[in-house]
Amino acid sequence: MVGRVKTGIPGMDEILNGGIPERNVVLLSGGPGTGKSIFSYQYLWNGLRQGEPGVFVALEEHPVQVRINMSQFGWDVKPYEREGSFAIVDAFTGGVGEAAKRERYVVRDPEDVGLLVDVLKEAIRDTGAKRVAVDSVSTLYLAKPVLARRTVMVLKRVLSGLGTTSILVSQVSVTERGFGGPGVEHAADGIIRLDLDEINGELVRSLIVWKMRGTRHSMRRHPFEITDKGIIVYHNKVVRIGRTFTIQEA
Ligand SMILES: Nc1ncnc2c1ncn2[C@@H]1O[C@H](COP(=O)(O)OP(=O)(O)OP(=O)(O)O)[C@@H](O)[C@H]1O
Ligand SMILES: [Mg+2]
Repeated sequence: MVGRVKTGIPGMDEILNGGIPERNVVLLSGGPGTGKSIFSYQYLWNGLRQGEPGVFVALEEHPVQVRINMSQFGWDVKPYEREGSFAIVDAFTGGVGEAAKRERYVVRDPEDVGLLVDVLKEAIRDTGAKRVAVDSVSTLYLAKPVLARRTVMVLKRVLSGLGTTSILVSQVSVTERGFGGPGVEHAADGIIRLDLDEINGELVRSLIVWKMRGTRHSMRRHPFEITDKGIIVYHNKVVRIGRTFTIQEA
């Protein structure tokens, strides 16, 4: 029996046959605006609410903006930061600016993966984190694609080694069918792909679990919604994208 970490996202744990197997490093891949950041926030927030500490690594946005984004869904992490069960690793500002001076975990050179790992380890140890989200790993190797696999392997060793179950956000372009490149896709223990498709003049959200080591999972494409309370996955509905597009009862 594998231990599982429940995402707590409505409908998602049903698709995962109970949750993400413990210590898995999951690539959360998708194009712009598909809901990757919101998924990551919700995953961490649901952990906090049930007493599981977490760490968010901000590479795309200012930590201040991350707190604002989360609070828009009613997820106020500040009390958890104060009590020491939640931390944001600032790998965005490089320590530049007034607001950055108030951050506790700052990566002075966000391009330096070794440095980032050191700060991340410290944040995981201090908080006792069980869940980690890195938004996004793509940022770490955008300029140097050859380093992609090595970067993900380094993170995987640290994240899994310290006992966390983690999400690595991977950005792909709108038209790309993959998940972030061959090195990265094989290194990850799991891949969840979020999609946004324009059908008859309307954008439709769906997701599919492409792989998840250590468990059985749904092999279907499920519709989901983003609401003021976060993501809701319709695990008993499937989306068929072909010549025609339909949403049906599973
Ligand atoms: N309160 C809300 N209600 C409904 N939908 C929302 C709400 N807030 C945001 N969204 C939707 O979520 C999208 C942004 O999601 P998110 O930031 O998670 O995307 P992302 O995959 O991280 O994108 P990127 O790769 O550009 O960072 C918005 O474009 C919008 O469609
Ligand atoms: Mg994002």
